[in-house]
Amino acid sequence: MKTSELEAGWFPAGLQNYVLPKTAGRVMIFDNDIALWRGEDGKIRAWENRCPHRGMRLSYGIVRGNTLTCLYHGWTYDGAGACAGIPAHPELTPPKTIRAKAYRAADSGGFIWVANPDETTEAPSIEGDWVPNRSVHIDLAPTSLNELIKGMDAELALKITDRAAVVRVPGVTGEILLAFLNMKEHGAMIHTSIPASASVDAAIAVSKLTGRLRQIFKASSAA
Ligand code: FES
Repeated sequence: MKTSELEAGWFPAGLQNYVLPKTAGRVMIFDNDIALWRGEDGKIRAWENRCPHRGMRLSYGIVRGNTLTCLYHGWTYDGAGACAGIPAHPELTPPKTIRAKAYRAADSGGFIWVANPDETTEAPSIEGDWVPNRSVHIDLAPTSLNELIKGMDAELALKITDRAAVVRVPGVTGEILLAFLNMKEHGAMIHTSIPASASVDAAIAVSKLTGRLRQIFKASSAA
């Protein structure tokens, strides 16, 4: 599978705290299987979830420092994706052609964003101090962010991109930052963040609302 199969633009791949420093995780964006990981430098990285050696999922890998080591035969990759060591051949300097395939990746608004390696735009720049709240998968997907907001009966405060917006929802104090990934026949992923200054009660209210989105959409599409 090529890493250039995403559409143009940036996609919300998950909540920022889904992958903490020195850990790795896995996400699917459409049919693209992606390994996310952070070294001790905290920088988010998104790679094709396939070791260049024998195809083991790199999301099972072990993070040491700012390197990722494949679980299978221990090939190690540096933060830029270049193979930095092959345990079975410790004397060998790995050829430069052995590289993990890297997407672009960034943190913004409490979310992890991923784009094609050749994406020319910068990741969404989201003002303010946001903290991750909750993710939910919706089987019956809204087809657009606008439809999502309408279904929530929310007021759009500031549309940031076609995949993320700040919304206000009746009955919920304060603003919610909402990121939307339409996976078409695979449904949709909705991720929410809240202002870092939000109260615990507001965080609980947003979390409950996010959890109810499945029912909200079932009801709005049946109406
Ligand atoms: S499959 Fe990754 S090191 Fe062999």
